Amino acid sequence: MTELEAIFKRHAVRNYKDKRIEQDTIDKIKAKIDELNEKGDLHLQFIEDAGNTFNRLLNKAMGLGSAPSVIACVGKKADDLDQRIGYFGEQLVLYAQTLGLNTCWAGTFNKKNLGAAVGDDEKVVIAIAIGYGEHQGNERKSKTADQVSEVAGERPEWFDNGVEMALLAPTAMNQQKFLIRLTEDGKVEFINKGGFYSEVDLGIVKYHFEVGAGRLE
Ligand SMILES: Cc1cc2nc3c(=O)[nH]c(=O)nc-3n(C[C@H](O)[C@H](O)[C@H](O)COP(=O)(O)O)c2cc1C
Repeated sequence: MTELEAIFKRHAVRNYKDKRIEQDTIDKIKAKIDELNEKGDLHLQFIEDAGNTFNRLLNKAMGLGSAPSVIACVGKKADDLDQRIGYFGEQLVLYAQTLGLNTCWAGTFNKKNLGAAVGDDEKVVIAIAIGYGEHQGNERKSKTADQVSEVAGERPEWFDNGVEMALLAPTAMNQQKFLIRLTEDGKVEFINKGGFYSEVDLGIVKYHFEVGAGRLE
């Protein structure tokens, strides 16, 4: 499965099978995490036993409590930390999808129970539930390309492809509060229109856009 195929297949999954992730798959996830931590200057961590990370009432009601494992999204405190977590964390989410796993970004989780290693200069931004889903998730409502993008002049095909993939990006509460603008001089701008975890959303959206537009090296 390519990354592009993973974008189409991925949906938030909140109900997991009572099945641990196999060691060789864990090794692959950890190797990917090392690569992303290096590229993004982050401290993402795979935590094999999610334990009581998702023991909040809301998580229990949504089903996330069944996730066997969790990715702790940690990094050094910085203004752009949330956006980098979104940009690099989503690469891990898509990679997990290619390995046959399912995931759900989760802003509501119990930080104390996460069991992540967090340095004094670091911060836990968010968690990602990971495991084998009971199902593959569902398609959801989406804004239209016109609602989330703006172009000065003609719309090139690569830009439309990028916007199409950005619309498949997960956002907190499916808020899709972003605007992608193509300026007259051909620059792409990503604008945060606010909301819960919207900088993480913007990082995720940016990565999806780049895959769609074919602009990654
Ligand atoms: C930054 C962020 C935070 C999220 N927080 C939660 C959460 O706390 N609980 C939850 O059940 N889902 C959470 N989600 C999952 C979104 O609700 C889900 O991605 C969105 O509804 C879009 O659906 P999709 O992922 O199937 O495309 C979060 C997603 C993102 C990107």
